[in-house]
Amino acid sequence: MQGLRSDIAIVGEAKWKSDNIVSALREAFNLREENLDDCRGNGSSGAHLYVFCTNIGSDENFAQLKTAVKACAGEKMFVLPTHNSKCMTRLRDLGITDYLVQPVKPDELRAMAKKAINRRVERSWAALDPTIRVALKTSLACFEDCYSRVQRGEALPMEEIQLSCQKIRESTKIGTLGSWIDALDDHHNYSFRHSMFVCGILTYFANAIGISGSDLQLLTVGGLLHDVGKSQVPLEILDKPGKLDPQEWELMQNHPEHSREILLREQGLDQDAYAMAVHHHEKLDGTGYPDGLSGAEINDHVRLTTIADIYSALIDKRSYKEAMSKEAALDLMGKFKGHLDLDLLRCFRGFVLDTQ
Ligand SMILES: [Fe+2]
Ligand SMILES: [Fe+2]
Repeated sequence: MQGLRSDIAIVGEAKWKSDNIVSALREAFNLREENLDDCRGNGSSGAHLYVFCTNIGSDENFAQLKTAVKACAGEKMFVLPTHNSKCMTRLRDLGITDYLVQPVKPDELRAMAKKAINRRVERSWAALDPTIRVALKTSLACFEDCYSRVQRGEALPMEEIQLSCQKIRESTKIGTLGSWIDALDDHHNYSFRHSMFVCGILTYFANAIGISGSDLQLLTVGGLLHDVGKSQVPLEILDKPGKLDPQEWELMQNHPEHSREILLREQGLDQDAYAMAVHHHEKLDGTGYPDGLSGAEINDHVRLTTIADIYSALIDKRSYKEAMSKEAALDLMGKFKGHLDLDLLRCFRGFVLDTQ
């Protein structure tokens, strides 16, 4: 996990860095504030995105602004106090295409920032081994396609899903689980990141314990699709920068039911992949959802998906919580008696602690 890099450095003179910008971004991102004077992009920085809050139309510090923009290696966007043709010309000269004008809407600001950060994370995949890069790019395109097809009421692109899962399996032959998680760690499409974490964890674990062939294929496909029902949950809830209230939580808990509806329409989908998606929130003692299954009604693929799902959520960072270390996550899960298969968890623990 990278950890220390800020998502965003917000740069500008105090008079233009208004509270609405800072608080809107702070809700969803790891944020640092810098003065224009200090911003030389010389390593003090290292942010994915620089949000410049300054009056670009003023001649007073334009030369300094130009130097700062040039020196910052991350993505850049501007929040302008005002909007005129001089500002537009200067933005163009600086090569800036992402900008908003005050008063900004918090959602719009966060969406633009998220898009810019994702662009940078996706560009950073160019430095990875081609097999891993292809797996990440293919699965991102596939994941986005799945979500938009479900929203349009269309069938899932099963061939595309199989192909991207094949690419993921190929990538696990040469990569490590740690590098897979690092490559996805800063991506701000949370549903994609989480699904890829779960899919990667299941595939690497399956490789480690000698699962191959159609069983391995099943775990990869089931991992990628395990939360497909979240495509029916409102984005404000999925991306909420904070804990969900009881009403929102109820809507979120409907996602296995949505998965059921979506996957029941798919001819030819393995029944176990369907079970992984619909039942990974069941608990062995029967207190889970959506069907209150218990004991032997929950098969091994589902039990393993539940472990990968919880582990992946615990080691992931959100704007409202720090990432847990793998040891702390496993220790905590070891206390989930009645919920998890503790024998399987012991085996999983050995795999995680042995792996890089
Ligand atoms: Fe889920
Ligand atoms: Fe999940």
